[in-house]
Amino acid sequence: MFCKSWLLVGLFILLNVLLLYFTATTLETRKWQKMAKKTWNHHVAYPQNYRFILDQPKKCEEQKPFVVVIVPVAPQNVEARNAIRITWGSEELVQDKLVLVLFLLGSQSANETLQEQLQNESQVYQDIIQSNFLDSYRNLTIKTLVMMEWLSKNCPQASYGAKVDADVLLNIKNLLHMLLSLKSLQRNYITGLVLSGNIVLRDPSSKFYIPHDVYPKSRYPPYPLGMCYIFSMDLPEKILHISRHVRPIFIEDAYVGMCLKHLGIAPKKPPNIGQFVVKPPQRFNRCYYSGRIAILTNSQTQLISYWMDFHSDKRPC
Ligand SMILES: *[C@@H]1O[C@H](CO)[C@@H](O)[C@H](O)[C@H]1NC(C)=O
Ligand SMILES: *[C@@H]1O[C@H](CO)[C@@H](O)[C@H](O)[C@H]1NC(C)=O
Ligand SMILES: *[C@@H]1O[C@H](CO)[C@@H](O)[C@H](O)[C@H]1NC(C)=O
Repeated sequence: MFCKSWLLVGLFILLNVLLLYFTATTLETRKWQKMAKKTWNHHVAYPQNYRFILDQPKKCEEQKPFVVVIVPVAPQNVEARNAIRITWGSEELVQDKLVLVLFLLGSQSANETLQEQLQNESQVYQDIIQSNFLDSYRNLTIKTLVMMEWLSKNCPQASYGAKVDADVLLNIKNLLHMLLSLKSLQRNYITGLVLSGNIVLRDPSSKFYIPHDVYPKSRYPPYPLGMCYIFSMDLPEKILHISRHVRPIFIEDAYVGMCLKHLGIAPKKPPNIGQFVVKPPQRFNRCYYSGRIAILTNSQTQLISYWMDFHSDKRPC
């Protein structure tokens, strides 16, 4: 009798311990799942073995460009590609230095019609590089790293690379003048509209929100604004290599800055920072354009009309 009640008490205690244990582990799992979900939103799927669906692997070897300009653009945005093709993308030779302009796309694999159109477009213009990662705003860092991968593999002989957004009016002539004015061929060189000490936004409703656990520092290292940056051709491989040790964030230009910081390379101010323009003045005129390198526009129409305006008149400024 005495023995039996002790046994019951023992069993009761054991049951309670087990119950507590299970509650605790379930709670822990829930917490984990919640955290994983939170960071998953900020996860950038790189490195990974993406492959090129459309490619121009021999283009650099054959054409021997001095500068390779890569324009990241969404697969469906054929208007933006055409706007560039008929404007600044059409100026290939400047001071007998060749500038090669190529478009870099991710994919929308679910849309077969689109893929067929892209194949056609690629055959006609031979200026499309397409990788098989999903093209989206949140995947722009992947696009930049895929660009670095492509350049280091296919264009080691070129002197410089540039990443130029599709809404930028580029003045290739001035870009070349700037690069040729540098005393010698640069190494570890990257320039553009360099931002220093940009604050990491912690407000979850902000477009550029980055949680503390994804990037703990309060400021980003210096980086050139993503609309247009130019770099010596030794950098793509170095950035790609170091990126394996730098946790990716979706803000591609800030991420390039984080990689540069790890490499111990500081982005350089361009000889004339006024040549990189985010907000063109209201009263735009052809002489304004003639002195700049990169101007952000607000539409393809604006990009085309600025360029036409400049080229319609041969008078010097
Ligand atoms: C597929 O792409 C075509 C051509 O760009 C477009 O017109 C169509 O709306 C797309 N379909 C879907 C489901 O996104
Ligand atoms: C691609 O081009 C081929 C032949 O030039 C044409 O028959 C086909 O309709 C085109 N496809 C698309 C999606 O434009
Ligand atoms: C980014 O691309 C990867 C690979 O295609 C894909 O799995 C992921 O869903 C994409 N992320 C976003 C936010 O589009």
